[in-house]
Amino acid sequence: MQVVETVSDVRRIRRELAGSWGLVPTMGYLHAGHLSLVERARAENDRVGVSIFVNPTQFGPNEDLESYPRDLERDLSLLRELGVDLVWTPFVEEMYPPGFQTYVTVEEVTRPLEGAARPGHFRGVTTVVAKLFNVFQPDRAYFGQKDAQQAIVIQRMVKDLNFPLEIVVCPTVREPDGLAMSSRNVYLTPEQRAAAPVLYRSLCAARNAWVAGEHDGERLRRIMRSILDAEPLAQTEYVSAADPQTLEELGDASQGVLLSMAVRIGKARLIDNILLTPDQ
Ligand code: PAF
Repeated sequence: MQVVETVSDVRRIRRELAGSWGLVPTMGYLHAGHLSLVERARAENDRVGVSIFVNPTQFGPNEDLESYPRDLERDLSLLRELGVDLVWTPFVEEMYPPGFQTYVTVEEVTRPLEGAARPGHFRGVTTVVAKLFNVFQPDRAYFGQKDAQQAIVIQRMVKDLNFPLEIVVCPTVREPDGLAMSSRNVYLTPEQRAAAPVLYRSLCAARNAWVAGEHDGERLRRIMRSILDAEPLAQTEYVSAADPQTLEELGDASQGVLLSMAVRIGKARLIDNILLTPDQ
């Protein structure tokens, strides 16, 4: 496994190692969710590249850029075990050299949900992901369903800007009690950690209602909110029952729905979602 810091090294290795390439973009502090993306990339490509970069442009001024968890040595040993070919760990100045002033902006689908709660977040994500695609030139890139809106935004960008690659969205990996894996789970105290499965519980309650025939979007949102409200450690930022393509809030959810939420528990801001489609 080669570990490099510069764009020119990534480009050189990419040229030297023939075959199809899968890319897993990450911000490090890897957990089983990331590793499932790497395994899928390993299975579907001749070569696998992983980027580890805590991207400053996707963090707001009052967010956790400085405290975002990092453990490069552990990340590298996990990736080595999985047979990754190339890891890129750029410095901020390599990604954003002095004079940098070009950003990628996806419009409508970045406005609601995470986009409304975190202004500028998706501009940072799409800009860095576009750069990663240009540098690695992968045949496939792997993202988690956990960040559902991010996956939709990136798919839109790839389509609109004709990036020649396939986006593969992989299922959310959960702890045994249902909590979605996230690097930010490390912020939870034991008491908060015990409360955190309330997100998945509320999503499951709305899913069960939908499967049983409750297709009213407002009632689905109310089911999720009432379960979250019953947990004193949880502060709900939003709950959503939205169109899975446009992310507009639905009145009639019978044709499929993305149930999602953002909830603060202590220092951690947790997000989670379930996608329901009519064939389920
Ligand atoms: O999902 C993430 O970890 C990040 O948003 C990504 C895609 C690596 C871009 O920085």
